[in-house]
Amino acid sequence: MNESDCKLTRSWIGSIDLRLIAEQVGTPVFVYSEAQILKNVRRVKDAARAVGLEERVELYVPFFPNSNPHVLRPLRDAGVGILLQLPSEHRLLKRFGFDKFIVSPGHVADEEIAFWDRTGCPTFLSSLDEIAYSLRTKAPSISVRIDSLDSGKPGIKYGELDKLTALLAEHGRELDCFEVYCGSGNSRDAMIDIIEKQFEIFNTHFPTARAINFAGGHGFVYESWDESEKHFDWAEYFRALREIADRMGIPGHVKFLFEPARDVLADTGALLLSVERDVITNSVGSLVVTDGSRMLMPSAQLRDRRHNVVFLDADMAEIPATPGTDGTSAALRGRSILRHDYILPGEYWVPSAVDARSHLLILDVGAYCATQHMEFLNIPPAAEVLVDTAGTAHLVTARGDDLDKWRHLLEEKREVKS
Ligand SMILES: Cc1ncc(COP(=O)(O)O)c(C=O)c1O
Repeated sequence: MNESDCKLTRSWIGSIDLRLIAEQVGTPVFVYSEAQILKNVRRVKDAARAVGLEERVELYVPFFPNSNPHVLRPLRDAGVGILLQLPSEHRLLKRFGFDKFIVSPGHVADEEIAFWDRTGCPTFLSSLDEIAYSLRTKAPSISVRIDSLDSGKPGIKYGELDKLTALLAEHGRELDCFEVYCGSGNSRDAMIDIIEKQFEIFNTHFPTARAINFAGGHGFVYESWDESEKHFDWAEYFRALREIADRMGIPGHVKFLFEPARDVLADTGALLLSVERDVITNSVGSLVVTDGSRMLMPSAQLRDRRHNVVFLDADMAEIPATPGTDGTSAALRGRSILRHDYILPGEYWVPSAVDARSHLLILDVGAYCATQHMEFLNIPPAAEVLVDTAGTAHLVTARGDDLDKWRHLLEEKREVKS
């Protein structure tokens, strides 16, 4: 085997006993690495420390891109908070011992705002109307989400900032914190370019705010195999942040909050699928039939995202692949009848050694993958396994059984009555 054709030596997943996991848990299965999560958090924290920002930078990883409390537990233990959007998430995570939260709920009813006020979690409200409710009910603290893209996303628009300032003044209140989300997958330079705008909002509108929340959106390069290329350049970003904060006179007590999801979570997960048949080639093209389903990866489909993939043989050894030689380009099919049931968009290079006993491993699925799974055409959800820092694998979500789709089905119909 040509070493350079083997990719898994570069990833934590290369040293995991996948054969044991597949035998004991079955496929499809998401496999997560606790060590990789800790490594990703450490990278961000080290970069903050290097420019003297360790006391000012606070991390809150969003729950919706990977909502398994077992997987996120290392974050809790490392002092990283969680960004919530739903009361149910709060309930679940409290049960698992988490207690450091901020909330970005989108647009919600008054009752839900009241719920968050009772919890005391800083909550970033998205419209003047929602803020007016909080002011009327004398909420303990007021925070807002600003839609920097002036798009359809929830958030106060730039043109509304004067009105917001006036509304707060009318009630004699000050803003606790504001969150500015700039969309996903931004390059380091794009993220640096918007820092001045964020500080300008602080200086012009909310100079007494306790904190500025820069949200997420830090780019992650799915196509690269090299970890240093995949991850956002936090070192350079924080250097710029520090320099701009000092130049623009941002007071030293103001905290900087961040909500990275992709950068912290994406490469902590891999999805292991079984190949169900030898490659099918017909007059339309070639197909690899797997036991996965399209809905495991909707965000990849929506964005035409390329993930790194590796084929494994019956013994779970990597089958080296050199695109263009000894193989064929093929689509990766899910197991339903639907025409568009592809695990990932586009075609991938499939070495000729791939057959009905092989496996397919899809990398970088730790964010926005398992949480977007649906009971697509009655196909049950995948299992989740977490590998701890000692290298031991633990089942953290059992696979939906064959009847999972009907787990809430009543044996007898029940009349709806008062
Ligand atoms: C408010 C907010 N914060 C953080 C994130 C995470 O973004 P990313 O995965 O790009 O880091 C999102 C993603 O939608 C978001 O809406």
